[in-house]
Amino acid sequence: MSNRPLPPWPYPRLIAHRGAGKLAPENTLAACRLGASFGYTAFEFDVKLSADGKSFLLHDETLDRTTSGRGRADALSFGELAQLDAGSWHSPGFAGEPLPSLAAILRFLKANDFAANVEIKPTPGREWETGAAVAIDVKHQWQGQGPLPMLSSFSETALEAARRVAPELPRALLVNALPGDWLERLERLGCVALDSNHRELTEEVIATAHAGGYRVLCYTVNDSERAQTLFDWGIDSIITDAVDRISSAR
Ligand code: G3P
Ligand code: MG
Repeated sequence: MSNRPLPPWPYPRLIAHRGAGKLAPENTLAACRLGASFGYTAFEFDVKLSADGKSFLLHDETLDRTTSGRGRADALSFGELAQLDAGSWHSPGFAGEPLPSLAAILRFLKANDFAANVEIKPTPGREWETGAAVAIDVKHQWQGQGPLPMLSSFSETALEAARRVAPELPRALLVNALPGDWLERLERLGCVALDSNHRELTEEVIATAHAGGYRVLCYTVNDSERAQTLFDWGIDSIITDAVDRISSAR
């Protein structure tokens, strides 16, 4: 394979997963603040659409696990979602923490010169709509001096939609199991990076990606020794829950 130049990678080597991993309620402003208190300057979070098409943070398809609500997350308007308690499930100290809009999180990150890894996580059936809406929101709401937010998704449909409306935003293809044609998929989607489950990675996969002109990041690495191995192999960034155990100063 002919070597292609690597795209710029203006992102920290460590990215906090869902804001601050498990130390605070995931995908909230409180989580990002806690991650920042450990020195983290880049944050991954999950974004989907409300019934009225507003981008907000939530991991699951339903509200049950991480909020006081019930049922499908896209059944409520953002006005209704904003009334829910997204903190009590975690611990009493976070009671009343709201589900944040994407706009609120981007405001916080921009104000602090932090970097964003925006995972587009559509509810089923809304892949194209979510990819397009989130990309447009990021494009309009970022306008920061810092590095452009990285968009990532397991949904290739969402990535295609994001590319259509905001081709300038960098994209990464998320994979849980590495498909045999992963290089072709990155090429077809115009991605700058592979974002893989770390268990799928080897030194050879990282070297192959780099030779092809793609960066590599991975999730969710919570063991320091594993993180060191991946850095020794040349990984560009890792996403971690262990903001208290894996030093942001690496
Ligand atoms: O973006 C990487 C990682 O967050 C993907 O897995 O399920 O934690 O969103 P998940
Ligand atoms: Mg995620």
